[in-house]
Amino acid sequence: MVKKAIITSALPYANGEIHLGHVASTYLPADVTCRFLRLAGTEAYYICASDDFGTPILIQSESEGVTPAQYVAGWNKRDREDFEMFDIRFDHFSQTSSPANIEFVRDVYLKLDAAGHIFEREVVQFYCEYDTKFLPDRYVIGECPYCGAQDQYSDLCERCGRVPEEIQNPKCSICGATPSKRSSTHVFFKLSGFAEPLSEWLASNENLQRDVKKYVQNWIKSGLTDWDITRDIPWGVPVPARVVGWRQDTDVNGNVNKEGDGKVFYGWFDNHLAYISSALQFLESHGIDGKEFWNSADIYHFIGKDIVYHHYLFLPAIRLGIGSEYKLPDYIPTRGHLTLQFKKISKSRNWYIGLREFLRYYPADYLRFYLISINPYSQDDLNFDWDDFAARINSELIGNIGNLVNRVLGFTVKRFEGTLPEPGAYDDEDHTAESKIARLASELYALMEQNHLDRALKAIMAFSAHFNQYFQHREPWKGREPDTANCIYLSVNAVRSLSIAAYPFIPESAERMWAQLGLVGSPKDASWDGISEIAMQPRHRLGNVSPLFERVDAADVGRHKERLGPS
Ligand code: 2FM
Ligand code: ZN
Repeated sequence: MVKKAIITSALPYANGEIHLGHVASTYLPADVTCRFLRLAGTEAYYICASDDFGTPILIQSESEGVTPAQYVAGWNKRDREDFEMFDIRFDHFSQTSSPANIEFVRDVYLKLDAAGHIFEREVVQFYCEYDTKFLPDRYVIGECPYCGAQDQYSDLCERCGRVPEEIQNPKCSICGATPSKRSSTHVFFKLSGFAEPLSEWLASNENLQRDVKKYVQNWIKSGLTDWDITRDIPWGVPVPARVVGWRQDTDVNGNVNKEGDGKVFYGWFDNHLAYISSALQFLESHGIDGKEFWNSADIYHFIGKDIVYHHYLFLPAIRLGIGSEYKLPDYIPTRGHLTLQFKKISKSRNWYIGLREFLRYYPADYLRFYLISINPYSQDDLNFDWDDFAARINSELIGNIGNLVNRVLGFTVKRFEGTLPEPGAYDDEDHTAESKIARLASELYALMEQNHLDRALKAIMAFSAHFNQYFQHREPWKGREPDTANCIYLSVNAVRSLSIAAYPFIPESAERMWAQLGLVGSPKDASWDGISEIAMQPRHRLGNVSPLFERVDAADVGRHKERLGPS
C-alpha cells in the first residue's frame, strides 16, 4: 500500500514578512522532508495557511486604515510569493479566515461543547470607555508585574518572557487612556480534564523528540490550566450559540447581546484547526476522501520551540476532545530559534534579514544549503553568521559538490565528447566507488526518516568528497585504461545519484545537474532507491555543461554585515 503523509508547518501570522528565522526552523525542514517522502514513494502533501486572526492583526489593520480582511489578504499574497521564491512548495496555502476553516472551527467547538469540554466563566477585563471596547492581549500596554519592564503587552512580557497575570499601570494601546474594568462572559476549554489521555498519547508516541516530551510530561504533572478561548473583539471566528445556555452580555450602550454575539475565538483555538480544514479543502478538491486520507496518513507538524505548549498539549487535547475524529500528530519536529550573528532577531531593532532581501543577493539554494547544514534535529538554537555562510558555500557547496559536477562532466565533454565511455574490469578502487553508490540510498534514508536532515546533508557531502578524491587519484587526464573509462563511467553515475539525493535540499541546482547529465525529466520524478542505481549506460550523451555555482564574494558579505549595524 502506498504510504501517505500530511505535512504542515506553523502558520505565519499575517502581519509581517517572512524572515530567515521563520524558514530555518519550520518551512525549510518541512519542505525538504516533503520532497524526500515523495521521492521515497509516499503520497505526501504540504499544507499551510496564513494565521489571520488576533488582536495584533486587528490593531495593525486599523492603524493602516484598511479592513482586517484586506490587510490579511495582502500578507497572504506576499507570503505565497516569498515562499515561492525560496522554492518552498506548498500544495495548498490557505487562510485561517477562509470560510472553510471558520465552519470547521465552529463545528469542532460545538462537538467539544456537546462532549462536556466547554464551560463559561465571568472574566473581569480591561475596558476602554473612549474606544468602547474590551481590551484583550495586545490592546493593553503597561508595566510587567514580575520584572518591571515598561511598555509591555498584557499577554507577554518581552523582557522576562512571562505572561503577566495583571499588567501594572495599564493603558489602552489605541488611545492611551487608562482603562476601566468590566466583566464579560468567556468560554473556557477544560484542558485540565485531558491530563490522562495526553499522558497516554505522549507515552505511546515513539516518534516525538524525547527531550521535548519530557518537559511536556512535567507540565502535565504540575497541573494543566483551562484555556479562555474567547475574545471580545470583532475579528475572529464568531462563537456560535452554545448548545447549553449562554449567559447574556450587556454591551456598553446597555444593549443585550444575543447568544455568543460579538465574541470570537482566541486565535490559538482556531489556527491549528486550519491544518485539518486546509488539508480537507485541498484533498476534497482533488477528489480524495479528506478524512480517510488524514486518518491513514502520517501527520507531521513542523514547529519552532516557542509553540511547544500549543502543539503538544492544546492541539492534541482538542483532537481528543472530539473523539479523535482526526488523528493526532505522529511527528512534531521541533527546532530551535535562529540567532543572527549570535544576537536575537529583532525587527524593531533592524537586527533581521527578510527572506526577500536575502534572495536579492543569493540564490535560494545557497540559503537552503546553509540553513540545513547548521540545523540539527533538536531544540538548540542555531546561528546565522555571514562569514560562516560564505565559507560553507565556497568550500562545501561549491568546493565539494560544484567541483565534482563540473570536473567530472567537464572532463567527459573534453575527453569523450560528452559521451559516457564503456567501462572495463574494475579494480578495488572502482569496486569501492561502486559500493558507495549502492549504499547511498539506504544510508540517507535512515537519516532522513528520522528527521536528521543535517546529517543526511553531511553524508551527501561525504559521498561527493569521496568521488572528488577518487577522480583525483585515478588521474583520468593521464589516459590510463581501463582506469579512465571506469572512473568517468562511475563518476558520472555518482553525479546522477547526487542529483537525486540533493534534490530535497537544493532542488534548483539538482534540476540543473540533471539537465547537464542529459537526462530527461527531473530528479523529482526519480525514486529514492534510484539513487543507488548505475542507471546511465555507455554511449549516453551529456547535456550542455557549465559551472553550477558562483562564489560568494567576501567584500559583498562585508557589506551585508555592515547593513545590519554594529554587533
Ligand atoms: O506562533 C506563531 O507564529 C503562530 N502563528 C503559529 C500558529 S501554528 C498553529 F496554527 F498551530
Ligand atoms: Zn516582565
